[in-house]
Amino acid sequence: MALASLAIRWHDTALDLLDQRALPTDTTWLRITDAREAAHAIREMVVRGAPAIGITAGYGLALEAQRLGDQASLAALAPAFEVLAASRPTAVNLFWALDRLRQAAGDLSGGALAQHLSEQAERLHRDDLAANRRLGEAGLSLLPQEARVYTHCNTGALATGGHGTALGIIRSAWEAGRLRSVYAGETRPWQQGARLTSWELMQDGIPVTLVADSCAAMLMAQGEVDVVIVGADRIAANGDTANKIGTYSLAVLARHHGIPFIVAAPDSTLDAAMQDGSGIVIEQRPAEEVRQVAGQPCAPADCPVYNPAFDVTPAALISAIVTENGVIPSPDPTAMAAYFARSAS
Ligand code: MRU
Repeated sequence: MALASLAIRWHDTALDLLDQRALPTDTTWLRITDAREAAHAIREMVVRGAPAIGITAGYGLALEAQRLGDQASLAALAPAFEVLAASRPTAVNLFWALDRLRQAAGDLSGGALAQHLSEQAERLHRDDLAANRRLGEAGLSLLPQEARVYTHCNTGALATGGHGTALGIIRSAWEAGRLRSVYAGETRPWQQGARLTSWELMQDGIPVTLVADSCAAMLMAQGEVDVVIVGADRIAANGDTANKIGTYSLAVLARHHGIPFIVAAPDSTLDAAMQDGSGIVIEQRPAEEVRQVAGQPCAPADCPVYNPAFDVTPAALISAIVTENGVIPSPDPTAMAAYFARSAS
């Protein structure tokens, strides 16, 4: 095996993905052999989480180049780029990864192109793990001793190349003896918090308490939460942040209760070309996700449903954004521009 993390195993000529739809009851791996299958796995949430989607797209392209053999070229790969780009719209990591591989392809062709794309996809995978470890360390400065953290969705090793983003800070805090406990919001309707975050943290022996999303306000009012840490799918140039639906409500609650609200994401989640959050395309998901729980009806079968997968938290509600390159306190257009200028130099 060339490279493996909790949910993504790369074998040089095939990719295995841990089917996150089946967790926590079953650990089933699905084999991916071309770009179309990779796109399907992303769309159907076999793999999810912004960085993991980007890594999968990278491997999907490498597999497609292998499949094309002598015929592989940037032009021949155009349909593969297209099908992957159409898989999910909100997480910018997907488009970032596709751009990185497009640039890496240059005018290579055939076996040389396939080999190069494979190496570049592995690099995305490795770099994401390294970025998350740095991000985890950087976030420690924002936590009190014995921190009680509230988090949302799943931002862990399942959602990334390893370690995690918001869960990366939580993991690093646990390793550093700075963490008392974690509240994981269940994250209706797909239940990433209930099905994935609780599973992941329990595997590592990190104390986690699962709560219904609607419990967050009361926990905060009772003084049980020191800090809220969430991930991101796309951070605009002014700091507005798209993340799992329900994130915005948590930011409003945190502000009301005077609790720091921290966003953790690698640079691959920053979209300098997106002026503010109003331009971010929000994915709409199937009505059945809301009308059912674990495949069982919980609403009339024909009840109209609105099911956006993400919301946008205004930068003004965010206390800090943490990346692998440090902390951006009180993100606003000026702070973000200074960060982008620093990263470019
Ligand atoms: O729909 P999902 O499960 O892909 O949504 C995931 C999230 O919103 C995460 O918070 C985000 O991608 C960051 S993962 C490190």
